[in-house]
Amino acid sequence: MASPLIAPSVLASDFSRIKEEVEMLNASQADYIHIDIMDGVFVPNISFGIPVTAAFNKYAQKPLDVHLMIVQPEKYVEDFVKAGAKIISVHYEACPHLHRNLQQLKDLGVGRGVAINPHTPIEHLRDLIHDIDMVCMMSVNPGFGGQKFIEKTYDRVAQLRKLIKEEGAATKIEIDGGVNLNNAPKLMAAGADILVAGSFVFNAKDPIDTIAQLKSV
Ligand code: DX5
Ligand code: ZN
Repeated sequence: MASPLIAPSVLASDFSRIKEEVEMLNASQADYIHIDIMDGVFVPNISFGIPVTAAFNKYAQKPLDVHLMIVQPEKYVEDFVKAGAKIISVHYEACPHLHRNLQQLKDLGVGRGVAINPHTPIEHLRDLIHDIDMVCMMSVNPGFGGQKFIEKTYDRVAQLRKLIKEEGAATKIEIDGGVNLNNAPKLMAAGADILVAGSFVFNAKDPIDTIAQLKSV
């Protein structure tokens, strides 16, 4: 089993200390910086937008993994690429023309991510799996950090891993929500590649050490 790629979510960071928080991540074993964008429409919360993403990117030495929890993402993806996004995930449930969204991400030259809510059947990704670089599988209902991990996720990761294998695709599986050192080994055993962790990292006494521990599960 390979070691996970770690994507700390800065939603849980101290926004009054963006520079220091990003420098901490630069000095850590984090592989990506996960950026959560919430619009108050697709999800019942508002986080931050394009200028704040650019501010994180200003100091970041790791690629920005931008998770768009917004309706009509096609209107904004180009701006997020300009703000530094290297991977962009749009939500399956927010995109009636998902194939077109994926084409747009390809044309912009960024990693193509699709995020799926806990109720969305895995099978719905089959016909597009070759066009998806990363599935961001939600292990909580999107909208807030610090929520409880949904146990059904293990089964869903295994289902998605099986689907990817059956289709001969290279899609990576990212898990987002409530990840900690208790569930990380089980998620990796089920077939995950990338772990997002927000509150578990930023509420820790020693975030750099916590990232190292997640990396070594
Ligand atoms: C939830 C976000 C997550 C969240 C993760 O809507 O997409 O990325 O910030 O935070 P924790 O790890 O605290 O659940
Ligand atoms: Zn996220």
